[in-house]
Amino acid sequence: MIDALPGTVYLVGAGPGDPDLLTVKAQRLLRQCGAVVYDSLVPQELLELTSKSCEHHFIGKRRGHHSVSQSKINSILVKMAYHHTCVVRLKGGDPFLFGRGAEEAAHLNRLQVPVEVVPGVTAGIAVPAYLGIPVTHRLAGSSVTFVTGHEGVDKRRPTVNWRALALASEGLVIYMGVHNVEHIANELIEGGLDPSTPTVVIQQGTIIGQRYAKAPLSKLVEQIKKIGFVSPAIIMIGGAINFQVKSCAPEPAKVTMPIPF
Ligand SMILES: C[S@@+](CC[C@H](N)C(=O)[O-])C[C@H]1O[C@@H](n2cnc3c(N)ncnc32)[C@H](O)[C@@H]1O
Repeated sequence: MIDALPGTVYLVGAGPGDPDLLTVKAQRLLRQCGAVVYDSLVPQELLELTSKSCEHHFIGKRRGHHSVSQSKINSILVKMAYHHTCVVRLKGGDPFLFGRGAEEAAHLNRLQVPVEVVPGVTAGIAVPAYLGIPVTHRLAGSSVTFVTGHEGVDKRRPTVNWRALALASEGLVIYMGVHNVEHIANELIEGGLDPSTPTVVIQQGTIIGQRYAKAPLSKLVEQIKKIGFVSPAIIMIGGAINFQVKSCAPEPAKVTMPIPF
């Protein structure tokens, strides 16, 4: 390791795909950073904001390869911090929402590498909004829960209590839920959620290629299988879906992803 003080690592939210959803602060940091470390949900257009001399490190999953381990990512970040005064760790959506941002921040902190988080627009709000769907509505309850559907794939995570959520939250926004949707839908219905509750599945929101389908909860699994939804997709469940205002939905953006979906 170089004998010098480390630079600062900024954990930056890239937003959910449309480059126009990048924050002003994120844009400024991308322009000035000496290295950017990014994953698969970050469009090429954001990397083009960086200077010619900026080092680019892609740590997303490539087809046919395992994803880069968290410890490898941590060591790249530390190494970059000792080579540059400003390093951007660019993550899809918001870094602190299902983004392992806090794990990376804690690691850098332990090694006395300065770190700062830059919040981003999360997919769970923006992806439904790009169809004119609000995640809450005054006439459709007073709560919404952001929840991962990825449980069960990685057994080290605590299991989500879907039955309890069925009645505790009037709206659910499920990240990474497509592969586990049968279990989720069954558990929610077992927990007392009305099978006629509206649901929507949205794949590749905010960008061209966006696909979506609405169905009552009882038909959600069938709908996902029929259309063949794949990641990245958001599943939203709750009465707020009925308050969609299609005419306010922005046009999806044309972007290039590091690994095409
Ligand atoms: C590891 S999580 C990261 C979430 C991110 N930190 C955020 O705040 O949006 C990745 C999941 O976010 C959701 N997601 C991210 N971008 C999306 C998009 N453009 N369209 C639909 N879902 C998206 C999908 O559920 C995807 O599997």
